[in-house]
Amino acid sequence: GEGPLRDRRGRAVRDLRISVTDRCNFRCIYCMPRAVFDQDYPFLPRADLLSFEEIARVAKRFVARGVRKIRITGGEPLLRKHIDRLIGMLAELDGVEITLTTNGVLLPKLARPLAEAGLHRITVSLDSLDDATFRRMNDADFSVQRVLEGIDAADAAGLKPIKINMVVKRGTNDHGIVDMARHFRGSGHIVRFIEFMDVGASNGWKMDEVLPSADVVRRIHDVFPLLPADPNYTGEVAERWRYADGKGEIGVISSVTQAFCASCTRIRLSTEGQLYTCLFAQQGHDLRTLLRNGADDAMLDTAIAQVWRQREDRYSEIRSAHTTGQRRIEMSYIGG
Ligand code: GTP
Ligand code: 5AD
Ligand code: SF4
Ligand code: SF4
Repeated sequence: GEGPLRDRRGRAVRDLRISVTDRCNFRCIYCMPRAVFDQDYPFLPRADLLSFEEIARVAKRFVARGVRKIRITGGEPLLRKHIDRLIGMLAELDGVEITLTTNGVLLPKLARPLAEAGLHRITVSLDSLDDATFRRMNDADFSVQRVLEGIDAADAAGLKPIKINMVVKRGTNDHGIVDMARHFRGSGHIVRFIEFMDVGASNGWKMDEVLPSADVVRRIHDVFPLLPADPNYTGEVAERWRYADGKGEIGVISSVTQAFCASCTRIRLSTEGQLYTCLFAQQGHDLRTLLRNGADDAMLDTAIAQVWRQREDRYSEIRSAHTTGQRRIEMSYIGG
C-alpha cells in the first residue's frame, strides 16, 4: 500500500536476483578462471549461506514493495541442494514470475521437479555449438551435447520460452555467432548475445575482446534478415530483433556499448545475505545480521527501503579505463 520504492534516480525496484551458491561445476574463462578459482579459493562456508526460509522471507518483503520478477542465480544454482524446495516456497508469492539462469547440465535430472515446484521459465548459458570452442570456454570438459540435452529436458518440462545466453568474446567464440542463430531459429528458444563485461576483478577483461552488439546484429542480418522488435517491458536488458521470415527472435545485451542503467530496476541478494544495488558494486548491505538477530518485518522493510532510496548506481554509463581496475564482487558470487 505504500506505492513503489524509488531510488535517487527515480527508478523503482522490480527485479530481485537471488544467488543461492557461489560454487560452479564449470570454470568459464570469463567468469571463474581456473587460475583464480582453484582448490584454495575461499568459497563461502555452509553456515554463511542464507537458508531457504531466510531467502523466502526477504523475497516476500521485496514483493510487498513492488518486485515482479525473481531470478535464481549462482554460481550454478542447480548445485544448491533441494533447490526445487526453494522454488516451491517462492512460487507461493502472488504476482511474481520465477525464473532461473543455469549452465544446463543438471537439467536432465532437475527440469521436471523444478517445473512441478512452480518455476515459470529458464535461461541456459551456451557459448558455442562447436565442441572444442565450448570446452575451451567452460574449461571443465563439458560437451555441447550435455547442454543441449539440458535444454531439451527444460523444453519437455514446459519451462518455456527458453532463453539461451551466449557471452561473446572476440577472437574466442565470435566465429560461431551465425551458427548459434541458425541452430535455434525456428525452435521457439530465444538466443541472446551478450557483450563480454568487466565484472569482477579476475577475468582479465579487455575492451578489444568485446564485440559490439551492433556487429552481432549485422553478421546475423547478412545471412538471416532481421527486423527490430519492441521491448516486452521498459527496462528490458536485451534488445530484441525478430527474423523477417517469422522464425522467431534473438536478443542482444549491450552493457558495454549501450548502457541501460537509466532504467535499471534490479537488486541482487548474495548467497550470504548481502544486498547489492549494482552488478558492479564494490560493497553490499548486510541483511543476514538483521535476519539472524530476530528483526521483525517492519525492521526488514525499513532496511530495504533505506538501501534502495540511497541508490545511485550507473556503472555501465560511467565505465572507463579508471573504473575497470576497481576491486569489486565476482560474477560467480552475485550471479550476473
Ligand atoms: P530475462 O530478460 O528475464 O531473461 O532476464 P535477464 O536477461 O535480465 O537475465 P540473465 O540472467 O539471462 O542475464 C543476461 C545477461 O545480462 C547476463 O550477462 C547478466 O549479467 C546481464 N545483466 C542482467 N542484469 C544486468 C544489469 O543490471 N546490469 C548489467 N550490466 N548486466 C546485467
Ligand atoms: N560478461 C558477460 N556475461 C557474463 N556472464 C558471466 N560472466 C560474464 C561476463 N564477464 C553470463 C553467464 C550467464 C549470465 C548470468 O551471465 O554466461 O549466462
Ligand atoms: Fe559457472 Fe555460469 Fe560462471 Fe560459467 S558463467 S563459471 S557456468 S556461474
Ligand atoms: Fe544496473 Fe549497475 Fe547494470 Fe547499470 S551497471 S544496469 S546500474 S546493475
